[in-house]
Amino acid sequence: MPERTRSELVVVSNRLPVTRARRGGNDDWDLSPGGLVSALTPVLQKRTSTWVGWPGPGSGAPRRLESQGIQLRPVHLTRSQVEHYYEGFSNRTIWPLYHDAVRPAEYHRIWWASYVEANRLFATATIDEAARGAIVWIHDYHLQLAPRMIRERRPDLRIGFFLHIPFPPQELFAQIPWRRQILEGLLGADVIGFQTTVGARNFTVLCRRYAGAEGSRDELRLHGHTSRVAAFPISIDTQEFARVAATPEVVRLAGEIRTRLGNPRRVLLGVDRLDYTKGIDLRLLVFEELLREKKIDPRDCVLVQVAVPSREQVHAYQTLRNEVERLVGSINGSFGDVGRSPVHYLHRSFAMPELVALYRAADVMLVTPVRDGMNLVAKEYVASRIDERGALVLSELTGAAHELRAALQVNPYDVDGLKEVFVRALELPESEQARRMIALRRVVERHHVHAWANAFLEGLGA
Ligand code: G6P
Repeated sequence: MPERTRSELVVVSNRLPVTRARRGGNDDWDLSPGGLVSALTPVLQKRTSTWVGWPGPGSGAPRRLESQGIQLRPVHLTRSQVEHYYEGFSNRTIWPLYHDAVRPAEYHRIWWASYVEANRLFATATIDEAARGAIVWIHDYHLQLAPRMIRERRPDLRIGFFLHIPFPPQELFAQIPWRRQILEGLLGADVIGFQTTVGARNFTVLCRRYAGAEGSRDELRLHGHTSRVAAFPISIDTQEFARVAATPEVVRLAGEIRTRLGNPRRVLLGVDRLDYTKGIDLRLLVFEELLREKKIDPRDCVLVQVAVPSREQVHAYQTLRNEVERLVGSINGSFGDVGRSPVHYLHRSFAMPELVALYRAADVMLVTPVRDGMNLVAKEYVASRIDERGALVLSELTGAAHELRAALQVNPYDVDGLKEVFVRALELPESEQARRMIALRRVVERHHVHAWANAFLEGLGA
């Protein structure tokens, strides 16, 4: 055993939360901002801990790294593993299938073989980092086999698994040729967490049916090992969003954004990863129809759509980008004028203060995915509206809809329903905006990401 200290807590996710920054001719690695990082940083800093994950394609990361006091253990993937395990099985099989098969899931044995191989790589790195009796917390759909692989070699560890995306019903999950292996893989964990009780229930039903597990709704037994199954809806760092929203810089920027947009009466906003689950294309079609029917006047209403680049090597994402950009062009071509565009489309990511300024500048926030495990943008918007103004339009088919009851909820496939709710949101009286926003803010103030991380780790006996 090498002399370095092993960790009492090991977090494992496909991606390491780092970006490379070159300083003074050297490579430095910065922790990337994001919900999971802000949730886990205080937890990680409390004890010896390591985050195991892939540093991204072609990044040339060394064998180990440190960033802001957190130990990072890069798992290097070959080009073939990126293609088959990440782009293939993770993003073309599991991702679409778990999101209601909104795109057909593809099954290829070579992808599966690579998924098994990559899960073993992550499991091996984790085992190597974990001290005796350590806590291991594995994240998301890329690593469903890792819990069992780790348990088989290290029964001394306490293993938790949290799925950030939906867990599908039997009708869909049953398609997977390797469904038993996936369920058995997950059942290697002591605690298996889902975003909603629906996901947790789907999982227990499937485990009884296809893995021969026994037990109740919240406890399953397989091969003498018991796993606890529960919903742990994830959230955001609410206080941090509220703090940033109150800074003079953000208040100024929010005003400036409205000026730069030409001081319209109403600003609608969408902020999404450019993903086909997010319903961006449908949303644009609805906006176009409202313009065509003159229910929205392009002289006093604009839509800002932020589309964060994502998974650009995967064909379905390239097709979606083409379609979204065609729609934006078509709307602006038909309804714009010199110096005035109804849609402002931004294909890039934003730093947190700019994002919060956009939230503060928006009268109506459009969150209309066709399926989403949670959707943190909805929660971020609410947390940023310390002025208790603004209207949130929220798809019923998101995990967030289970909690954010006071949002204007809508079926994202119902074009007429969307049209109605967009118009209603645009004209929502200030008193009703305030009443709804106060109720929504109460939810995110109570259920923040630190409470989420603590609840999960407590469940794991940490
Ligand atoms: C979703 C998934 C995450 C993933 C993120 C970005 O939120 O739940 O696990 O990291 O998308 O996707 P990417 O493929 O770029 O890691």
